[in-house]
Amino acid sequence: MSLILAIESSCDETSAAVVNGRQVFSNVVATQIEMHQKWGGVVPEAAARAHVEAILPVIQESLSIANTSVSELDAIAVTNRPGLVGALSVGVTAAQSLAFAYKKPLIGVDHLEGHLLAILALSEELKFPCISLLVSGGHSELVLINKIGDYQLLGQTRDDAAGEAYDKGARLLGLGYPGGRQISEQATEGNPKRYDLPRGLSKERYDMSFSGLKTAVLRLVEKEGNNISVPDAAASLQAAINDALIKRLRNAIEDHNPTSIALCGGVAANPDLRSRVEKLAEQNRIPAYIPPFTLCTDNAAMIGLAAAAHLVAGVGTNALNLQVHPHSVLFNRADAPQDTDS
Ligand code: KG4
Ligand code: ZN
Repeated sequence: MSLILAIESSCDETSAAVVNGRQVFSNVVATQIEMHQKWGGVVPEAAARAHVEAILPVIQESLSIANTSVSELDAIAVTNRPGLVGALSVGVTAAQSLAFAYKKPLIGVDHLEGHLLAILALSEELKFPCISLLVSGGHSELVLINKIGDYQLLGQTRDDAAGEAYDKGARLLGLGYPGGRQISEQATEGNPKRYDLPRGLSKERYDMSFSGLKTAVLRLVEKEGNNISVPDAAASLQAAINDALIKRLRNAIEDHNPTSIALCGGVAANPDLRSRVEKLAEQNRIPAYIPPFTLCTDNAAMIGLAAAAHLVAGVGTNALNLQVHPHSVLFNRADAPQDTDS
């Protein structure tokens, strides 16, 4: 086992964690959500500056909770792609400095692989091949995990990510940013059949599209005016997004006959989606791997878990060579369009 300090700063959370194998000793997250709320979304420049302020205290706290110090570490891991370049650079520079000063191996981790491998915390004996639905604010991907390190992209969104659809829908309904949680909270009191919203690309087996949904919610708000029931609209929006996701997952299970399924990324915090994925797994008599909320939204523990898996395979980088990249290169799909990560 190897003691790893992991750092994540790709978007609007500054996070540091200490993991050992699949054990998470600490997972500290400083969120910038409040700051970005007033603009209704993440402002890259402001995000980078806030990471600079938070990074050292967050690292210190993660080491102190884990009752360890940099010199005791076996390696340092950091998200170096995909994400906002300015934001990523803050985490990578901190990781490089520590790795260089303390002569520790440095492991660059793809943020998407972090989301996918958050499931490593759940069990020692995960069953592969696994079909994973990776849904976050910047991504909606349906991935066949043949084994750790071997990921096949089956489908993805053609436009907005699922989390983006939640966030944009929430904004139109006058709920705050980020909207996913508010929508799911409002939805518990609402009727999902009250408003008819489109499911997008109904004939596609794996790819998704959510931009039409945003327009449909806008029309709904214009048409209903003050008479709109926010809980009913939230429940209808949640049903439309989750129906589209579950349909793609069901198609992938039918075609690929996996031995397990998984749900990851920030939208995996959605209780309705979690229970629908669990139900689908039960129907197919296979396990569903769904990490706890804290490992679903952006966090450094998932980066450490992914790094631990790679360290076993002996992958380490010279600290000064690690670079940041806005795009992911995790998947190889011959017909895949270029990555559109944010
Ligand atoms: O993975 P994440 O923390 O950041 C990215 O890498 O994008 O995902 C954030 C996304 C946001 O769009 C947020 O609205 C969504 O996850 N989210 C939810 C819920 N909690 C967070 N979406 C639906 N229901 C939730 N309960
Ligand atoms: Zn993420």
